[in-house]
Amino acid sequence: MMRTRSCDFLLLVVLWLVISSSQGWLVGTHNSSGPSPAPYNGFFKPHGIIFSILDFGAKGGGVLDDSKALLAAWKAACIVPEATIEIPAMLNFLIKPVTLQGPCKSDLVLKIDGTLLAPTSTAWSTSARYQWLNLKWLSSFTIQGSGSLNGQGSSWWSLSEKTLVKTDHSISNTRPTILRFYQSCDVVVRDIQIINSPLCHLKFDNSRRVKVMNITISTPQASPNTDGIHLQNTTDVEIKNSNIGCGDDCISIQTGCSNIHLHHLECSPSHGISIGGLGKGNSLACVSNVYANSINIQNALSGVRIKTWQGGFGSVKNVTFSKIQVSDVQIPIVIDQYYCNKKSCKNKTDAVAISGVLYKGVVGNYTYQPMRLACSDNVPCTGVNLIDIQLSPASVESDHREALCWNSYGKALAPLKPSSIKCLQKNDRQLSPFTKPHIYIC
Ligand SMILES: *[C@@H]1O[C@H](CO)[C@@H](O)[C@H](O)[C@H]1NC(C)=O
Ligand SMILES: *[C@@H]1O[C@H](CO)[C@@H](O)[C@H](O)[C@H]1NC(C)=O
Ligand SMILES: *[C@@H]1O[C@H](CO)[C@@H](O)[C@H](O)[C@H]1NC(C)=O
Ligand SMILES: *[C@@H]1O[C@H](CO)[C@@H](O)[C@H](O)[C@H]1NC(C)=O
Ligand SMILES: *[C@@H]1O[C@H](CO)[C@@H](O)[C@H](O)[C@H]1NC(C)=O
Ligand SMILES: *[C@@H]1O[C@H](CO)[C@@H](O)[C@H](O)[C@H]1NC(C)=O
Repeated sequence: MMRTRSCDFLLLVVLWLVISSSQGWLVGTHNSSGPSPAPYNGFFKPHGIIFSILDFGAKGGGVLDDSKALLAAWKAACIVPEATIEIPAMLNFLIKPVTLQGPCKSDLVLKIDGTLLAPTSTAWSTSARYQWLNLKWLSSFTIQGSGSLNGQGSSWWSLSEKTLVKTDHSISNTRPTILRFYQSCDVVVRDIQIINSPLCHLKFDNSRRVKVMNITISTPQASPNTDGIHLQNTTDVEIKNSNIGCGDDCISIQTGCSNIHLHHLECSPSHGISIGGLGKGNSLACVSNVYANSINIQNALSGVRIKTWQGGFGSVKNVTFSKIQVSDVQIPIVIDQYYCNKKSCKNKTDAVAISGVLYKGVVGNYTYQPMRLACSDNVPCTGVNLIDIQLSPASVESDHREALCWNSYGKALAPLKPSSIKCLQKNDRQLSPFTKPHIYIC
């Protein structure tokens, strides 16, 4: 029930806008370029009016600040049904951190064919460092085009956490995410490139019905905490046919996420596909129905991973990793319920319960250990099933660990390579992870 609220809310506001402001938008479009001929490139068919950022005073030289023009174009297009905001090709638009806010009329398109450039780190104010482009309260909205969002991250990566904290003691002691959607639904992000993020590239918070396809994310491997796509409290997501290379998780799935389908992705380099860290600070975490298939992970810290902090509660349920190809991955299969960001963390009895995780067709090579299932002492992992796992060391010379299973129950079906993978405990006792009533909260 809670989850439908944001879109119901949006619908009401949109209806209200339709009824109450039918005069306003005619005035708003008056000075736009009008319906200039659409650059038709095979898949983009505009149906409404095109609002080019150039008609709102943008220079596109990459030096002068074009934020005001973007905001003006947004304001004008937002109140017109099926409008398109055009960021033309071959030009660079320097944009300050902005909030592009709805609700807007339906089927608004932000068509990025040129480049939007973030300010370099020194040009950022110390407040408002959560994200660069904040898209908020949108429904039926699309970003597409052959252009790119450039976070100019290199000026941020060298700043240590300490430097960031020293310059400002507020929440802004962070690096910004490039593109964040907040409380939005029926959103499509396609075709564009998102490059060199100071932190995360694309993030969805409190959103529903999201599609990401044919995008490219590219940031050097050595850049710290640069997640590719981050999902937080977001449901009904499909991410497909995309190429992600970054310095942290390729896709990161956090609490409140459900019905997540990831497929035909390239995650190289990266830290792989990751559910968690969940349950930090004894918090509740709920993740369910994650299906990841046909994913190629190369040159990565882990392949497919679920990580939880000790002391959390809630559950991770019904997760499938299928057709995962790994190459030069340190540990391809990981469940870590002892996740800790320092040398050691306090042992706690509570844990986010993990049940129903299927690994089917995980094939390729590893550089350290084929599999590591480290489940909680008090809340063991159940229904962990392995089918057709074929992993070999990436090089014969280096030292390798055997697979580890700790408090993990489930079934395994051949082929299973190396043989140390056959370490699951059998689920013959009636074993329930639900030892505490509050685990049912999800
Ligand atoms: C349209 O542009 C003219 C001058 O170019 C300006 O005087 C007028 O206020 C503008 N109208 C709107 C609705 O922006
Ligand atoms: C993928 O995006 C590129 C632009 O970045 C575009 O040229 C191409 O047509 C898109 N492919 C599909 C299948 O939409
Ligand atoms: C999750 O998102 C929904 C809107 O989609 C919101 O109503 C709810 O408060 C969010 N929950 C949390 C814990 O942020
Ligand atoms: C498990 O998740 C898949 C999607 O990944 C979904 O199709 C299926 O219905 C879910 N099963 C249950 C029991 O919820
Ligand atoms: C936590 O438990 C593990 C194994 O049960 C033990 O090796 C470790 O020393 C403990 N850590 C602390 C901080 O008590
Ligand atoms: C690891 O596997 C990939 C493909 O699965 C292969 O291209 C690569 O050569 C392998 N690396 C080594 C060191 O065997």
